[in-house]
Amino acid sequence: MKTAMRRFSLAARRAQPRLMPRGDPRDRGGPAQPLLLVEKLRKYFPITGGLLNRRIGAVKAVDGVSFAVVKGETLGIVGESGCGKSTLARLLVGLIPSDSGSIVFDGDAVGRPHGMNLRELRRNLQMVFQDSDASLNPRLPIEESIAYGPRVHGTSRAAARSTAHDLLRRVGLRPELFAPRYPHELSGGQKQRVNIARALALSPRMLILDEAVSALDKSVEAQVLNLLRYLKTHFNLTYLFISHDLNVVQYIADRVLVMYLGQVVEIGPVDAIFHAPKHPYTRALLESRLAADPHDRVEAPPLVGDPPNPIDPPSGCRFRTRCSFAEEVCAAKAPRLGGWRDASAHLAACHMTDRQSGHSRAGQALPSATRLPKPVEAQLA
Ligand SMILES: Nc1ncnc2c1ncn2[C@@H]1O[C@H](COP(=O)(O)OP(=O)(O)OP(=O)(O)O)[C@@H](O)[C@H]1O
Ligand code: SF4
Ligand SMILES: [Mg+2]
Repeated sequence: MKTAMRRFSLAARRAQPRLMPRGDPRDRGGPAQPLLLVEKLRKYFPITGGLLNRRIGAVKAVDGVSFAVVKGETLGIVGESGCGKSTLARLLVGLIPSDSGSIVFDGDAVGRPHGMNLRELRRNLQMVFQDSDASLNPRLPIEESIAYGPRVHGTSRAAARSTAHDLLRRVGLRPELFAPRYPHELSGGQKQRVNIARALALSPRMLILDEAVSALDKSVEAQVLNLLRYLKTHFNLTYLFISHDLNVVQYIADRVLVMYLGQVVEIGPVDAIFHAPKHPYTRALLESRLAADPHDRVEAPPLVGDPPNPIDPPSGCRFRTRCSFAEEVCAAKAPRLGGWRDASAHLAACHMTDRQSGHSRAGQALPSATRLPKPVEAQLA
């Protein structure tokens, strides 16, 4: 583990300076040490059936996921529905146990002897869910919901209440008006602000936001995104931001991780991912976005067919059944995402990015999708 950390440190020192936070007294390893290091994380959900209710298979929800999160950055996670984003988030905060793999938080291995236990992890790493109702107790006034975490961790009632009021102020809700209200007396946007305040009550270092703004209308979404940006600077936070909305991810993220069928297929700085994707799946996702110009159309549909069954994914590259560049080697061998510890790198798990893979396009850049010519009237406009 020590060698791995040293290797990462060298790589992280080369990462963009804007990803490095200002000094934090809770910071143990310094800015070069990743806040979160996830290696080969795996979660299969067993499927049982038959007369004896035996295990007949498993949903490979998260299958060998490795990545690092640099202190102070926002790492966006995108991918189609069912690709394992929420399962990954739940594994990271310890809501479900992993089958294998490791999680290291600021140099401390989670759940290992002499490492960090789950209680300590939850103090440092909190989650905000999409469903703002499900995370709030309908029978508690919101000040008590926010104060609940600090109370459980031994803070006095008065101090926890004062923290709750301060956080309500920080998220833009006047405590004298909102503290005694119950969740049903709040709008969706206000509830999500309360959830963010609740997540901050234990002074965590990192927030996982799982589709946290997806249920909000566009104007409220923009307000909450700006609030998240302000809180990140004010509380020196690091974010893992999960969303299916690529525009939102492009706005808020420093780096982006793309998942497909339980695996990481591409990771890199946000501009590189959005302007020069390396993986055909990422390119297809980007092409699936609604274009501002209705005449900007591609020749072939960006993505055809449904994702394969996660119980029995295709051999080799899992994207091969939908990839227009698939060749024999793609069925025979799974492409690897080498060098993932380097936070400044732009990497893709595709045989086309590996010169030694044997793919006929190995080493060549991924071409842009062919665009249809615009109608004459649109060209003249
Ligand atoms: N408790 C569970 N038992 C069995 N299968 C599960 C369980 N939770 C998730 N899955 C399966 O794991 C896969 C990944 O689900 P997950 O919720 O992580 O996807 P997601 O990427 O968050 O999707 P979405 O974008 O729709 O939220 C899916 O095939 C899902 O059906
Ligand atoms: S490895 Fe092959 S099938 Fe997979 S994305 Fe690359 S070219 Fe397509
Ligand atoms: Mg989800």
